[in-house]
This record gives sequence, structure tokens and C-alpha cells, in this order.
Amino acid sequence: MLAGKTIILGVTGGIAAYKAANLASLLKKQHADVHVIMTKNAQQFITPITFETLTGNKCLTDTFDRNFEFHVKHVELAKRADLAIVAPATANVLSKLAHGLADDMLTTTLLACQCPKLAAPAMNTRMYENPVTQDNLSLLKKYGWLLIEPAVGLLACGDTGAGKFPEESLILEYILREIALEKDLAGKKILVTAGPTQEAIDPVRYITNHSSGKMGYALARMAMLRGAQVTLVTGTTALKPPSFVEVIPIQSARELFDAVTSRSGEQDMIIKAAAVADYRPVSVADEKMKKADGELVLELERTEDTLQYLGDHKREGQLLCGFAMETSDLENRAREKLERKNLDLIAANNVKVAGAGFGTDTNVITLISGQETKQLELMSKEEAAMRILDALLEQMTESSGTIVHNTDDSGNNTRRHPDAQ
Ligand code: CTP
Repeated sequence: MLAGKTIILGVTGGIAAYKAANLASLLKKQHADVHVIMTKNAQQFITPITFETLTGNKCLTDTFDRNFEFHVKHVELAKRADLAIVAPATANVLSKLAHGLADDMLTTTLLACQCPKLAAPAMNTRMYENPVTQDNLSLLKKYGWLLIEPAVGLLACGDTGAGKFPEESLILEYILREIALEKDLAGKKILVTAGPTQEAIDPVRYITNHSSGKMGYALARMAMLRGAQVTLVTGTTALKPPSFVEVIPIQSARELFDAVTSRSGEQDMIIKAAAVADYRPVSVADEKMKKADGELVLELERTEDTLQYLGDHKREGQLLCGFAMETSDLENRAREKLERKNLDLIAANNVKVAGAGFGTDTNVITLISGQETKQLELMSKEEAAMRILDALLEQMTESSGTIVHNTDDSGNNTRRHPDAQ
């Protein structure tokens, strides 16, 4: 997701400096061009060789080093950077940055940077809570820095409190949110449902299905990365919820109906990837049901069909996308659903096709709208999520009068990495 992006990673002298190596590695895995700049103190904790090996770039440490490609390296790099992050950021370096002090390679480069700048402060709790540090952080915010809150927990010095270096994967999410994708969904409110529902039989048993939630979570994350304000209504899954998304946990189809319909009015798009039970037990036993001789017959009743309700109450300009999981006659059945439920788009898949359906990391979907049927090839659920969002955005833009061309002749999406090589 960071192909073609140049990132400056500033590493300063705190005990968490070694964790910056993992961050550098995560950034490289996203195909970013990572340039690490270390302060003198950082080199007491970890050596430049570690970063050079991980990034394939010279690790910059000395402003007056004569052995580099550019004449004025700090300005050159600052001009090229798409994003700069200082992680970990010590109280000392934060103080320098807040006051414009530039006395080494890192601070001179950052002073010349006009790209988004992030810092992940990490230090002892007392140092972090000191009003001087807090004032410096406020100043940095005022100057446009995005600060990543430190985690709370046991610190290297033995104290417990705020000041821990956040998970590197979370820092990566901040970076991705800033620069990974074009913000073509900025200002849009999108609600996504995901995962299975559970319909109670008694206090220990329920009826459910095999939905993993992966498709819905991918949709929520991609919409967030494209700038949307996202609400994720989710059944119980084993997945980590995406960052920067409002997560509403539900269990039953009734809870899903309430959670979605109470928020539906304000949404620009609603995407219903949840696998909702169509039936639930007519009555739920108060006590655990005991086995007995003979057969057990459970009487079931229909659940609320949330998507049908949304289609019947759709407001002007709102877009509704449903999912259809079929085992045969995919297109006709999905198109019938599209019409019956008054949808704008339906993502249909045949669970019998290899790589499609529950549990997998991939999907094979057919996008069906009023005008067309588009059969997509096997792709990751993230890529499928992008294509669904593209299709919805295209409908929204067309209905408001502006046409966007987001696919090339071969059907490949071209909006994601405007400057990818
Ligand atoms: N859906 C819903 N509420 C339900 C059931 C389904 O909102 N009670 C939504 C799902 O989230 C999905 C779509 O409706 O987006 C699926 O449509 P549906 O016609 O219910 O599909 P199936 O359950 O597969 O129905 P059928 O048995 O008729 O094929």
C-alpha cells in the first residue's frame, strides 16, 4: 500500500528504539522507500546497520557526513518525503522540534519537511506527564504534527503508566491512514455490517453460520483508509477490529437490525456483508435444555430482514449494497435480490467456487447493479473491497453529475496509488 512513497523514519534515543526496526520492516513490506535518520543517542540503543539492512538505504546520522549522494541531503530528503515519522520520540527531541531547534541531521531534516509529520512519544510516565512535555506536545499539534498517543502499561524503568511505545502495527495504521490511499471517500459516512449472527436456543447454545467477518472488515478498513467516517456493526468474530472505525458489536439478527436502523438515516452508503440468520428459535429456554429420549424439534421463526427494511426506507442519495451467497444460478438470483430489496449494488459469490466465500482471504465476486454485471477474477478480500467501494463511488458521483474514471481498459483500478511507480 506504500509503493512509490518515501518515508523518513526518525529514531531517537529511548529504550524503545529497537522497536523502530520492526516498524522499518513493516514499512518495507508495504513497499515504501524508507530512510532512517538516527540521533546520536539512538545509536547507543541500536546500530545503523540494522536499519540499513532492513531498508536497503543508508542510515543517516551525521549532518556533516561527506559520503552521500545529494549536496544538501537534509533538504533533498525533506523535499522528497511523502511522510515523516519520529518513533520513538523522546522528550528531548519533541522539545527541540516544538521550538524549531535544528542541531543534527534529524531535526534539520524535519524542520525542512512540508509533508505530514507524525510522532510517537515514548518515555517515562513522569516525563510524559510533565507540563513542559505536555506544552511541547500541544505546540507540535498546533504546528500540524499528528501525535500518536503512547500506550499505558509497565515501562522499562519499572513504573506503570502512559509512555509505552505503541504497537508497531498501530503506528503503521496511522501511516497508512495518512498516505496509503487517495481520500476519495472523505466526508462520506459509511456503515458496514460484518460477521455471523448468533440466535440463542438456551443460555449455552445458539444457531450461527461460518462467516469469518473478513469481507466486512476489509470493507470497513479500506473505506476508512479512503477517508470515510466508518461504522462497523459486527457479529462475533476472531478478527481485530480495524483502527479509526466505530465498532458496534452485536450478536443476534434483532440486535443487528436495531444497531443498523438506528444509524441508517445519516449514512451515505450502507454495505451489508454480515451473514444474518434468516430464522431464530421461537422461544429461548431460560435454563440449559436437558437431553431426553427421542427427537428434539426446534420451532423457528423469521428474523427481521434489515436489508429489506433499508431498501424500503432508503433516503434520497443513499446507496445500499448487499451480498448474495449462492450455490447455483448466481446472477439471476442475485439480480432478483437486488430488485426485491431495492439495492444499488449487490456483490454475489458462489460458495462452491474455489477461493470464494466464508473463511478464505480471497473472494470471487460478481458485481451486479441496475445497469451492469461485472464478473471479477479471484482477488484478495481487500482488493474486492476496493472494487465494491469503487463501484459505489462511481454510482454516487454519476448521480451527482460528475463522472470519474477509476478503471483502465483492462478493468484494473487506477485510483489507489496515484504516484505509484
Ligand atoms: N440480510 C439482512 N437481514 C437478514 C438476512 C439477510 O440484512 N435477516 C442481508 C445480508 O446482510 C446480505 C443480504 O441480505 O447482504 C442477503 O440477502 P438474502 O436474500 O437474505 O440472502 P439469503 O439469506 O442468502 O437468502 P435466500 O435464502 O433467499 O437466498
